[in-house]
Amino acid sequence: MTAPTETAPDRRHAPPEFPAGFRWGAATAAFQVEGALDADGRTPSVWDTFTAVPGRVDNGDRADLAVDHYRRYRDDVALMAQLGLNTYRFSVSWPRVQPDGRGAANPKGLDFYSRLVDELLANGIEPMLTLYHWDHPQVLQDAGGWANRDMTERFADYASLVAARLGDRVPLWVTLNEPWCTAFLGHASGIHAPGVADDATTLTVAHHLNLAHGLGVQALRAALPGTAQVSIALNPAPVRTPVDTPENQDAVRRADALRNRIFLDPLLRGQYPADLIADTAHITDWGFVRDGDLATATAPIDVLGVNYYTPLYVAAGPGPADPYNRWVGSDGLVHIAPADGPSTIHGVVDAAALRELLNRIRHDYGPVPIVIAENGVASPDIVGPDGRVDDAGRVAYLHAHLAALHDAITDGVDVRGYVMWSLIDNFEWVYGYSQRFGLIHVDRDTQRRTVKDSGHWFRQVIAANAIPPLDPPAAG
Ligand code: BGC
Repeated sequence: MTAPTETAPDRRHAPPEFPAGFRWGAATAAFQVEGALDADGRTPSVWDTFTAVPGRVDNGDRADLAVDHYRRYRDDVALMAQLGLNTYRFSVSWPRVQPDGRGAANPKGLDFYSRLVDELLANGIEPMLTLYHWDHPQVLQDAGGWANRDMTERFADYASLVAARLGDRVPLWVTLNEPWCTAFLGHASGIHAPGVADDATTLTVAHHLNLAHGLGVQALRAALPGTAQVSIALNPAPVRTPVDTPENQDAVRRADALRNRIFLDPLLRGQYPADLIADTAHITDWGFVRDGDLATATAPIDVLGVNYYTPLYVAAGPGPADPYNRWVGSDGLVHIAPADGPSTIHGVVDAAALRELLNRIRHDYGPVPIVIAENGVASPDIVGPDGRVDDAGRVAYLHAHLAALHDAITDGVDVRGYVMWSLIDNFEWVYGYSQRFGLIHVDRDTQRRTVKDSGHWFRQVIAANAIPPLDPPAAG
């Protein structure tokens, strides 16, 4: 063994580095952080309506104040700068910007995002803007929402309004966040807004979302400078089964079609999977897919956003149905939770599955550039007597997922960035404020912000563009 020389440093124990120019960020969504639901001309969104129904949200929590980001955005950007983020992913509230869901923009609504973007740029942070993170104007839901094909045109109009105002300063645009959640949680299980539970509607909505994405891409390309990048954030997941029987493998195929390929295939192949259409033929003839729709849905994107939390586990019945995942057209599928291992509100923690997922996308769909647009974990964080928030569990989670991501890059997957969910504790949909996902803790009574240990650790990651050890050896 030769000793390392000055010209050839021993890098065997160096922390794994990420590619030069890698984007490091954290994410939020408008309804989850902004509050100010009545401010400056905003109208109610479908989530305002949903959360007002008793029993829908844990503890009866409401998003009226959320974490008051609408008023505190400057302080929050200062905290982002302290963390060293070079990217911030946020979403625009459609009812703030276009309160009637059609027609002219509300200048005051756009002003807020314009001020936010300027503040980010002044702090050296690139804005990554999501147009739709689930909160469309209630007035559009009254006209049928995503079940109504007209909604796709409404979305494209809204995209044009936002792009016209912010296109000169926002380099990365995301059309939709997790259309699976809108379609399946919103219209199959009904546990998200608008709270519909109808299988045929779910598939119609899924298609309208795919179409809206494509129309949104067209609208953005028409309004944005050529340097701007366009994306969508999907939440694909590896699907697993406990025992490898032919029946269970068929369950995996069906679940994979409903969770993954129903969005990935139109987007990246311009078609729906034949097996999905066959599996659901007793529900719909898919007549809502019109000539030209798939060509629109497959409009080229610059980067694919992947939100990853957990793999799925299914088997052929009989057994317990999964209230979260309603397997439209495949009633025999049951949910089999793995017997051991840590789990969260999303399911088991499985970092290796992120590497598997990214390799699968590359293998099946080609070398599309990817940004991890969400990944994170909730924990019951508190500010200790020493003023610290000790969230060692989140640090371990991030460490494991970044290692898996690094492995995927080494495998050859073209990953351009990692955006953590979430920047800050916020309104976690049906869980209200009971689940804390942030790198920054928020005291619910005072709105006081405290950077958690995970935030300090993430700052080291960003500064080094590499994964530091979990427990750095003591100096000396
Ligand atoms: C959503 C976020 C949510 C996060 C944690 C994602 O599915 O995009 O809005 O807060 O998961 O549950």
